[in-house]
Amino acid sequence: MKIAMIGTGYVGLVTGTCFADSGNDVVCVDIDEEKIAALKAGEIPIYEPGLSELVVRNSESGRLTFTTDLADGVSRSQIIYLAVGTPPAADGSADLTALRAVVDQMAPHLTDDAVVVTKSTVPVGTNQFIFERLQELLGREVDVASNPEFLKEGAAIDDFMKPDRVVVGVRRAEVAEILNELYRPFLRTDRPFLAMSPQSAELTKYVANALLSTKISFINEMANLCEQMGGDINDVRRGIGHDQRIGFAFLFPGVGYGGSCFPKDVRALASMARDLGLDPRIMDAVDSVNQHQKTVLVDKIKNYFEGDVTGKRIAVWGLAFKPRTDDIREAPALTLLDYLLENGAQPQVHDPEASENIRARYGNKLVYCESAMDALNGADALAINTEWKAYHNPDFDDMKNRMNGRVIFDGRNLYEPEQMLKKGFSYYSIGRPPALLEANLPSRA
Ligand code: UDX
Repeated sequence: MKIAMIGTGYVGLVTGTCFADSGNDVVCVDIDEEKIAALKAGEIPIYEPGLSELVVRNSESGRLTFTTDLADGVSRSQIIYLAVGTPPAADGSADLTALRAVVDQMAPHLTDDAVVVTKSTVPVGTNQFIFERLQELLGREVDVASNPEFLKEGAAIDDFMKPDRVVVGVRRAEVAEILNELYRPFLRTDRPFLAMSPQSAELTKYVANALLSTKISFINEMANLCEQMGGDINDVRRGIGHDQRIGFAFLFPGVGYGGSCFPKDVRALASMARDLGLDPRIMDAVDSVNQHQKTVLVDKIKNYFEGDVTGKRIAVWGLAFKPRTDDIREAPALTLLDYLLENGAQPQVHDPEASENIRARYGNKLVYCESAMDALNGADALAINTEWKAYHNPDFDDMKNRMNGRVIFDGRNLYEPEQMLKKGFSYYSIGRPPALLEANLPSRA
């Protein structure tokens, strides 16, 4: 099939490349000339495992091309995917300026049998808006489908190639058939292709992310309860997870969720509800619990240093909002770094992929370290934000030798409290009692 992918951000690039890989002709269109030039040269603007190889392979085969010429891309394609950015506006709603502009610009170039498909996460009703706008501009009905994406950063290729399900919102069964054919190479018998109304498809994306965010905020709140009541959230998590109605997935406590989807989608859903005169109590609570959770490491550090971190050298491991990405959008690490800098501490940071993005934000206010171990040199404490694999089994003796203080604030529960004590560290984690060296016990403080 001939496909135009409008917008070569994260979602557009992954989707377009994977469709090319299954034998389709895909032209990726973007207004950013620099980006298109880089992509033509095989340079990938984002970090996503496996993507680079796939882009190069499909570009070489001629199935994947890049252009800034929207008219050309649209006029020679049957399926037009819209994957332009829909950033949050000030009130939390999605800003559809770019999407609206693309719809107007592409309209005159659509072929008679074109199917327009939204891939960007857009407010419920956007499909209907595009349908009506095209009808107004062209004087005829154009097929407009919704096809939400469920990709996880860091696992996007795998998620696309082996989706749990594919959801499409359509007005006509024939359109569902076309999209089904497009996805057939990626679907196994136990992975359904679900056709529904455009509104339901648009809602599905928000509801999925809202529920996943709810699980995280829920377990984080329970973790904070455990901590105050002397329990261990890891044990509680195991205790509840074996109940099959509950399960284990997405119930890991931490320093809060970040990234480009959860925070934005929870707020956008709440904003849509409010616009309808509804009171989205659960979404508001999920967001507010998450904002609070981003400060839990800060609070622990503040308490430990009795409110004064001036001049303290704090090693920070992990800056990305999660492992296997360089994305720092809404990352909990930002909350910690802001606090440390505002209070006169000196952060010494390490991340396997996200340091450059952090440097673009903080410049030379931070000490950037090549290795996790280097970040510990002379440090008064270590704070962990992201559970990169490389942090799971460090050489604790080496750490002790390098550090000035003997304390770890672990926002991802990477280690066992009792073990840490044996290794000679005071250890604070999430939802578990702290393990304190004698020198740090409250009575001696
Ligand atoms: C998410 C959805 O998973 C994906 O389906 C959707 O399309 C986009 O949003 P992503 O933002 O890439 O994907 O990351 P994900 O792996 O889902 O993690 C999101 C955040 O939740 C991270 O900050 C992570 O640390 C946090 N998280 C996840 C927890 O704190 N605990 C958990 O148990 C799981």
